[in-house]
Amino acid sequence: MNKKIAILAGDGIGPEVMVQAQRVLDTIARKFGHTFEYTEGLVGGAAYDVYQDHLPPATIEICNQSDAILFGSVGGPVHLLNEPKWANSEAKSILALRKAFNFNINFRKMALYPEIAALSPLKPALLANGLDVVIFRELIGDIYFGEHILDQKDGERHASDSAEYTESQIRSIAEYAFNVARTRGKKLVSVDKANVLATSKLWRQVVSEVAAKNPDIEHSDMLVDNCAMQIVKNPAQFDVILTANLFGDILSDELSVLSGSVGMMPSASFSASGLALYEPAGGSAPDIANLNIANPIAQILSASLMLAYSFNLLPESQAIDAAVKAAIVAGYRTSDIATGDASEKVVGTKEFTDQVIAALA
Ligand code: IPM
Ligand code: MG
Repeated sequence: MNKKIAILAGDGIGPEVMVQAQRVLDTIARKFGHTFEYTEGLVGGAAYDVYQDHLPPATIEICNQSDAILFGSVGGPVHLLNEPKWANSEAKSILALRKAFNFNINFRKMALYPEIAALSPLKPALLANGLDVVIFRELIGDIYFGEHILDQKDGERHASDSAEYTESQIRSIAEYAFNVARTRGKKLVSVDKANVLATSKLWRQVVSEVAAKNPDIEHSDMLVDNCAMQIVKNPAQFDVILTANLFGDILSDELSVLSGSVGMMPSASFSASGLALYEPAGGSAPDIANLNIANPIAQILSASLMLAYSFNLLPESQAIDAAVKAAIVAGYRTSDIATGDASEKVVGTKEFTDQVIAALA
């Protein structure tokens, strides 16, 4: 198989974990007889340096010419957020990219590795039977893409953000999530704030309509504040979570850290066109960039999702997931996932990936 992949590494730890994901993909290509052709596009602060534009047309064009997009991360150091290079750089790059390609369905998967369960903020008893939760997050609507106003009103500073949803936006992701629930535990919890928000009332109505057409899936609604609590109180009750953009942003970070580190959660963003984007759920972590200490797992597992969902290369994808697991089982850790156990070998970004590659061979 010959596939063209747009490589948008971005900022912070993005480039260094991307290089590692590409090394893993190259290993898969050799082992399984595929060709992956990479075209690098600039995005975020890295693009601003060259084009004074966080998402230049050249990058959009590269995405258009590719079979899938592998994205790293964007965003700058907190103390520099007023500089033009970093001001609103996430909104102008990743959010603009999601919107430009209509990536309305975001899927994030948390996986618990028993070997590092000690790093989870949860008590061992809550993790005893393992955890396997996916979250579907609507990605191009809600308060993220409504009007944002920062101005003066009645002699003082004032701000407003508006949230909007159409029923077709909600139906699109709901149908997708119910179909995926069918391939898993057949259990879906839709999360909203329908006791207060109009967008959530519509969300609940439309999800209920989709649920009625999928009677084999056990469906329930949960308010977001309760869900935030249930995730730490009894995470094993969840299989598929379906929610709106802002709630999904927050709950997916909460879910990701149950595994012990935000550096472990991959994500996939789908659109009706068939083009998809794969990226770690965590951020650019500029404070640890270029130190060879970042955890490459989320980027490597994002590449694995790309093989499975965009290229239908299931054995290849499973081989990557198994190799990551093998590196962990063999005791290799980047520093964020070191539990302090004497049997562990704490290694760098590259050296951890060496072990993943060794496990593939
Ligand atoms: C994510 C990130 C982005 C978001 C940021 C970088 C704008 O937190 O993908 O979860 O809020 O969607
Ligand atoms: Mg987020």
